[in-house]
Parts: sequence; C-alpha cells; structure tokens
Amino acid sequence: MTLETSQTGTLMATYAPAPVTFVGGRGTILEDAAGKQYLDFLCGLAVTSLGHAHPAVAEAVERQSKRLVHVSNLFGNELAEPLGHAIDRLIGDGEPAGGKVFFANSGAEANECAIKLARRFFSRSAPAGTAPAFAVVSAHGSFHGRTLATLAATGQSEKHVGFEPLPAGFEHVGFGDVEALEEATSRAGTAAVLLEAIQGEGGVVPAPTGYLKAVRDLCDERGLLLIVDEIQTGLGRTGRWFAFQRAGIQPDIVTIAKALGNGFPIGACWARSEVAAAFHPGDHGSTFGGQPLACAAAAATLEAMEAIDAPQLAASAGSRLAAGLASIPAVAEVRGEGLLLGAVLAPGIDAKAVVAAALRAGLVVNAPVAGVIRLAPPLTVSETEIDQALVILGSVLEELS
Ligand SMILES: Cc1ncc(COP(=O)(O)O)c(C=O)c1O
Repeated sequence: MTLETSQTGTLMATYAPAPVTFVGGRGTILEDAAGKQYLDFLCGLAVTSLGHAHPAVAEAVERQSKRLVHVSNLFGNELAEPLGHAIDRLIGDGEPAGGKVFFANSGAEANECAIKLARRFFSRSAPAGTAPAFAVVSAHGSFHGRTLATLAATGQSEKHVGFEPLPAGFEHVGFGDVEALEEATSRAGTAAVLLEAIQGEGGVVPAPTGYLKAVRDLCDERGLLLIVDEIQTGLGRTGRWFAFQRAGIQPDIVTIAKALGNGFPIGACWARSEVAAAFHPGDHGSTFGGQPLACAAAAATLEAMEAIDAPQLAASAGSRLAAGLASIPAVAEVRGEGLLLGAVLAPGIDAKAVVAAALRAGLVVNAPVAGVIRLAPPLTVSETEIDQALVILGSVLEELS
C-alpha cells in the first residue's frame, strides 16, 4: 500500500498539530518535509535526551531487529535482566538500590503498574476480614497519564471532563502543601502518595524545598508507599539521574519512560524489593513490555548516557540556558532544574503565539500551561545551539511583547 501524504483526516482529533511535518532529525536538529531545519528544544516532550538518530541507539536497534524483535514474557529474555540492573543502579545513584523492575511501553502504563502494585501490596498484607488500603493521593497540577486510573490520578480536573465516572480511590491536594497531605492521608484506606519532583505538564513547577523529605517522613510515619513519577524528570534531565535524588530521599516506587529508549517506546516501574514482592505470577502483565527490541534501545541509551555523564551535561547546559532566559526582558521568572526549564512570561504575553512564532523562526518549544514556555532540549545540546535558541526566543518575545 502506498501512503499519500496529501491524504489527511484519518487520525482521531486528539491533537491539534502545528502546520509542520518533521521527516528527519540529527542531534538537536529536526528537518521538515521542505528541508527547513529547526532547533528541537522540546525533544518530543522530553524523550530524545541523546538527540535524534543517536548512532549507538540506532545501531543497537538495527542489530537487535535482525536477531530477535519480540518474544513473550512467558519465556526468558537475555536483555531485560541486565536492563533492570542498569535501572536499579541509576535509582541508587551508582550503587545497586536492590529493587525490581516491571517493563511497560509508556509512561501511563508505568504509572498504572505502580498504582496496581500499591493496591496489591496492601491487599496481600491486610489482616483477614479487613478492607485493604487502596487510595492514592496525588497533587493538583500533576500529570500522570491518560489511561483511566492515571487520568484519575492526574490533578487537572479539566482533563477529567467527559470521562466520568473515573475509577474510585484518587484524591488531590495542593502541590507542596504538607498539611493538606497530612489531612488527606489520615483517612482510612490511603495506600500511597504519588508525586512528581517537578510538575512538567503542570508548567515546570518544582516541589518546594523540603517538601519531598516531609512527604517521605509522613509516608514512613503512616506506613504509606511513596511513588515518585520520574517519567518526565528522570534519566539525567534535571542534573541528577532522578530528580528525587536532589531531595536525598528514597521512594518506594519510581516510574520511568520518555527518555528511557531515546524515542523507542518503553516504560518501567521500579519498586524496592519488599514492595515488588507483592506481585506474583499472573498479577500483572504486558504483551510488548520489555521485549528484546525495546530493551536493546534502552540499554544502548543508558550506556550512552552514562558514558557522557548525562546529568552533568544537563546541569551545565541548563545553567547557561537558564541564565540566558533570565536575561530576556519579557521573561518574568525561570523555573525548573537542569534542562527541564519553564520560562514564565511577563503578564499579557500569549505563550501559544510565542510557540507558533518560534516554530516559524526555527525553534521548537511548547507551552504546557498559559504563560509558560517549556524548554527541554537534548542533554547533548551545544553552547552554540543554546545561544541560537536564545536569540530566536529573544527576538520573538521582543516582537510579541
Ligand atoms: C510526569 C508524567 N507522567 C506520565 C506521563 C504519561 O506518559 P505517556 O504519555 O508515555 O503515557 C507523562 C507524559 O507527559 C508525564 O509527563
């Protein structure tokens, strides 16, 4: 079958795509169908952290695709175990953390696994005749995915509209509000707290200093599980392997996706081993999750990230980008860590118009919420590319202010 590029209208209208079709990419550069080049400071939403067409990842995918693309989880898998170890070591910031991993295909599936695991943990340990804890408390402004459970966990009520009734057992409190969390988790039936260290889709909003430590202490005090969603923040982007590491805490469950395969779809749910032990054969599964081809892409991605010390690159490139953004008069505030940055625009500037004008000028960024431009370039972005992006954004903002 030949696909006619002129044929449109067959895709469900869940997105309102910009009038550009990208057909190629290398490093920080994207190319459209007309051959025009763009600086990609969005990375497919914090996915291609090593840049487009990374040679080691491309080579690993090519090699594995000729050896074995897929095999069911009903059989052994020579690539999934070592990949699980690599993830466990990064969770432990270089030392084995001693946990276990379930592989999925996306961020929402990784979070779905985390929610199910939390429920299974309490349903295994509840004394006979008592109702097991099952409720998850998450934050207003959070984003955890689009499946029904992860949508229910997502603290953006406008995304819930039209999909009710959502699954029961989800509650939201103000992000950073310890007292509200204390109150919500005091209710019988609470199993877990689910948080992002930096709310990416919520507008690049970092947790206030001390918040994650206070939440960890609260969870310990009350016997609750702490799930940290590192789907957007994870794997070096914020200047640490995982953003929770800055807070000096250890979550019970960590979810990962986006950058894990540098664009190849793969997600992972890591849990400390006592928690992971709640899953027995038959409790959870995935046809594709952890298949050899996805594992090969992820293994090559992590190996390349470690070889270049990706967190360190993100930290230093992030300082340059943040300083440059802060010097643009129309930028009122710069939020975030490393290379997950939000430029908060001065009042009255339409962020969507800025995104559209930047795209026309050859810079890809987005506006996760009104008034905020998100910048998430590859961790390999060069100083020259950062400076070029700042020039484009500066002149677009000057025009639109
Ligand atoms: C923090 C966070 N969690 C979960 C998800 C959902 O990931 P996916 O779109 O791969 O299902 C996202 C996606 O943006 C995210 O940013």
